[in-house]
Amino acid sequence: MTTPVLDTRGRRLRNLRVSVTDRCNLRCGYCMPEEEYVWLPREEILHFEEISRLVDVFIELGVDKVRLTGGEPLLRRDLPALIRLLAAKPALRDLAITTNGVLLAAAAPALRAAGLHRVTVSLDTLRPERFVALTRRDTHAQVLEGIASVPGAGFTGTKLDTVVIRGINDDELADLIEYGKRVPAEVRFIEYMDVGGATRWSFDQVMSRKEMLERLERRYGRIEPVVEDSTAPADRFRLSDGTVFGIISSTTAPFCAACDRSRLTADGLWYLCLYAMRGLDLRGPLRGGASNAQLTGLITGGWTARTDRGAEDRLALGQRTPLIQVGGLKRDPHLEMHTRGG
Ligand code: GTP
Ligand code: 5AD
Ligand code: SF4
Repeated sequence: MTTPVLDTRGRRLRNLRVSVTDRCNLRCGYCMPEEEYVWLPREEILHFEEISRLVDVFIELGVDKVRLTGGEPLLRRDLPALIRLLAAKPALRDLAITTNGVLLAAAAPALRAAGLHRVTVSLDTLRPERFVALTRRDTHAQVLEGIASVPGAGFTGTKLDTVVIRGINDDELADLIEYGKRVPAEVRFIEYMDVGGATRWSFDQVMSRKEMLERLERRYGRIEPVVEDSTAPADRFRLSDGTVFGIISSTTAPFCAACDRSRLTADGLWYLCLYAMRGLDLRGPLRGGASNAQLTGLITGGWTARTDRGAEDRLALGQRTPLIQVGGLKRDPHLEMHTRGG
């Protein structure tokens, strides 16, 4: 590995989120509230060999964690073939996927056999009727089956991600922790974020980390913070029985100061922040015949100029309304959370 590159705030480039498709088979209200979307043109979607080549360049610059995201990554045909390419790179100490779980039960053994290390599943509710209201699809049973299949397929380090929305699922925190114990999986509660795609976001629907902890302490008694040095978005906590869970408080207490992550969209744009309005085109140069040295130069230039701290900037605004209106999202689907990988 070459010397790690640092951005203008001294943050390293380590964690790459690779979106493999912008399509999704759910319509979660906090991410894809519309039924119809403008999709990325098929011919612009990166081939697996192209993703693999870009990942090699990122590895040279310090990336050692790759997470496959979507939309829903399991909608991408033959995903295990990409995982095989990535799993063969010894520099990647963590290779994970974030999925909604709908297609997971059938896919899990092949994902594991291909060399995937870890699985994170989004699960916002344990109640089938709520799932339908939240996602506008009737596939809750498939998601639970998907989650249940993960340990048997040989995965450890499984996580469940719950976006907590006041008045929608904030009464299920303890039930989800209890469910996580049985899987077994570490549950993480995510504050509802005002990202692109969340066109119905309002601050009253955000349940803060502070409030989540107060609720959980009423049920479980004293909760201890887990003391650790990490750049992960989740702060972790421990119940008295040893169960660990996380809270991702991007809305009320952002982690931008330690943020080492960037995102590659399925069509090869590189975004340096979840909130960034513009990405750097890597597909053009890649398909135009750029050498690895040229790609390295582009990525280094982008990262060393990086000033982003999108979530902190949003917090500093005080009064907040949705980041982008529907019209803006239609004009540039890259602004959507489902295009830049959750
Ligand atoms: P590990 O900690 O490695 O397990 O993964 P992760 O937490 O980075 O991945 P995951 O996809 O599970 O991310 C969980 C959630 O954290 C995402 O769905 C987002 O809601 C939030 N999140 C992820 N990346 C960012 C980011 O770059 N900025 C902010 N503000 N929030 C993020
Ligand atoms: N707020 C918080 N998290 C979100 N995600 C998508 N939209 C939002 C939002 N508005 C994240 C969730 C979900 C993953 C696919 O993307 O973690 O589980
Ligand atoms: Fe990183 Fe931007 Fe998320 Fe802050 S908002 S943690 S800088 S990606």
